[in-house]
Amino acid sequence: MHITSQPAAPGPQADAAHSSTDALGVSAAQARSAALEEMILVDPGRFRVLTGDRPTGRLHLGHYFGTLHNRVRLQNSGVETFVLIADYQVLTDRDAADGLTGYVEELVLDYLAVGVDPERSTIFTHSAVPALNQLLLPFLSLVSVAELSRNPTVKDEIAHSQQSSVSGLMFTYPAHQAADILFCKANLVPVGRDQLPHLEVARTVARRFNDRYGRGDAVFPQPDALLSPAPLLLGTDGTKMSKSRGNAIALAADADETARLIKGAKTDSERRITYDPAGRPEVSSLVLLAALCQNRTPQRMADDIGAGGAAALKRTVTEAVNEYLAPIRARRVEYARDRAHLRRTLHEGNERARAVADATLAEVRAAMNSRC
Ligand code: TRP
Repeated sequence: MHITSQPAAPGPQADAAHSSTDALGVSAAQARSAALEEMILVDPGRFRVLTGDRPTGRLHLGHYFGTLHNRVRLQNSGVETFVLIADYQVLTDRDAADGLTGYVEELVLDYLAVGVDPERSTIFTHSAVPALNQLLLPFLSLVSVAELSRNPTVKDEIAHSQQSSVSGLMFTYPAHQAADILFCKANLVPVGRDQLPHLEVARTVARRFNDRYGRGDAVFPQPDALLSPAPLLLGTDGTKMSKSRGNAIALAADADETARLIKGAKTDSERRITYDPAGRPEVSSLVLLAALCQNRTPQRMADDIGAGGAAALKRTVTEAVNEYLAPIRARRVEYARDRAHLRRTLHEGNERARAVADATLAEVRAAMNSRC
């Protein structure tokens, strides 16, 4: 196969403003996010948010303070929100999607428990929305193999993948993610920095589609990343908090399990507790966690614990986390009792997403003049 130049390559300035995760790209995205936050306050009705997670296990505190909290805030400020359970994408980094139905339901429970409101937010799965997936084909025609292969997030995911070889699905993941975002014409995607390259692909696809088929009209908006100042919480072993590393405090964990996990967390032997993320990452992450739960600054938190050492720190963190999560956990238990309601929630979300996806696909086909 010979790949020629990039399809409908944009001018150099167009890409420079939103270039990948280099320092410039991140700071540009941050500045843009601050401006967007202002606009949301003034006119939330202008925006539609799409966010999502892969259903690979129960969500944890890293997800909560990283994104969930922010999604609920956006929803409550009046922005229409779509929440995708990316079940097909579970297969990007593993061979089989074992236990998928259970994971999907766990995710819905986590969402409901933290305050995602199905009256205002559409919760749906990939696999229930055929028209969304069908967008992948025209979208793939708009990106080059070279662009896909230099996507830093895909490279990183390949490096951490559980598979021995890279599947086509993994490779085309960013184009699929563009379909996730564009099927509902979302113009706002709250993400962490690691997802910026994916968003770049979605913007590129939208722009090229409009240029090529739009006849002067924009079929798709160019979605903006909304970077929240997401705190980086480490897992209990001092590495990135992650479901697969067994170092995460799940929202659904009970108070005892939480206490046990925090008790086993890595710290250091210095008695005075300080907030020094560079010098003392493990201790500082615990301080930060307690501070987030109590809505205080980490510096004040550390000062209060003072010379109490790791034991006092862990006691404080355990109490703060358990107290903060108590109402969320209580709601989760309530929702878990009513499986029929859970399934209905998903069913209704899927119906809504299907209607939106069908309309977009019809528009795409009309724009592309495909009648078959
Ligand atoms: N890639 C995201 C993750 O791994 C999940 C996801 C899938 C997503 N589709 C999306 C996030 C669309 C934002 C928008 O966490």
